[in-house]
Amino acid sequence: MSRLPVDPAAVESCTEPTPPHDVVGPLLLWVRTELRDLPWRNTRDPWHVLVSETMLQQTQVSRVIERYHEFVDRFPTATACADAPTSAVIELWAGLGYNRRAVNLWRCARLVVDEHKGRLPADLDSLLALPGIGPYTARAILAFAFEHDVAVVDTNVGRLLARWSGESLKARQAQTMADALIPEGSGWLWNQALFDFAVAICTKRDPDCRACPVADACAWKGVGHDPAVTSAGVSGKQSRFIGSERQVRGRIVAALRNGPLPIEELLALGRANDDESDVVRIADSLVADGLAVRSAGRLTLPGHQQSGT
Ligand code: ADE
Repeated sequence: MSRLPVDPAAVESCTEPTPPHDVVGPLLLWVRTELRDLPWRNTRDPWHVLVSETMLQQTQVSRVIERYHEFVDRFPTATACADAPTSAVIELWAGLGYNRRAVNLWRCARLVVDEHKGRLPADLDSLLALPGIGPYTARAILAFAFEHDVAVVDTNVGRLLARWSGESLKARQAQTMADALIPEGSGWLWNQALFDFAVAICTKRDPDCRACPVADACAWKGVGHDPAVTSAGVSGKQSRFIGSERQVRGRIVAALRNGPLPIEELLALGRANDDESDVVRIADSLVADGLAVRSAGRLTLPGHQQSGT
């Protein structure tokens, strides 16, 4: 007998892992007493939300708190940041690491001023067109500044979804599942609740399933293979820093914060087995990323004001 063709997309949508909707009520109840008071939760200013989310991407909450205040005090608006030299933003980023984030913030501020009258846009496509703003950050701005009901899925949220559904999830599946879970009109609180629940109860290594308010709805329940381990983008491991090129890049930028650096002094900042061509190549990667400028045999921060010139 011949067979009728079936649209694969129709089947796929029915076999997607399903989000357990009965997590929503208990978690909203839980967060009524457990929501952390973090400084970026007391604002809806899109620029401030962008600054906090950029910092939080690779830096722990406890370290970000102080630095966030410092940054928004110095650059309260995108316009204030765009008016400053890039070097001022890189200098303020000292100690946070992943310095490219500072350059991206400054470039973003410039474009926001040039193309959006100094205000971050409130739609996904316009946000995604800005430097340094990827799908995660764009959704975080929509959810946390504009209070749109969109899901913000980072590695922590991805872990919760995998455990609740009992499935290893691809990034797209996690986003679809997270979007479907949002309680209408409460996206801001729901997304923040997931972050806090993920660090307080459903931790990566030692989840406290006995204290979990949604254990009944969880497919995994802490037993057997953890589906989060094999989910896309959930491990969130940073690459090894000691002995890496990233470490050398960090050292060079740290030196540049103190002033211009003659090229011949670069070698002292390299690793034990780096030769001059290695450190020059690493310095050139900083130039390519907009973190340094090379001229007259010296390296400087971009936009750095040199005395006497
Ligand atoms: N990590 C990323 N965004 C966060 C937020 N808004 N609160 C706490 N942790 C976060």
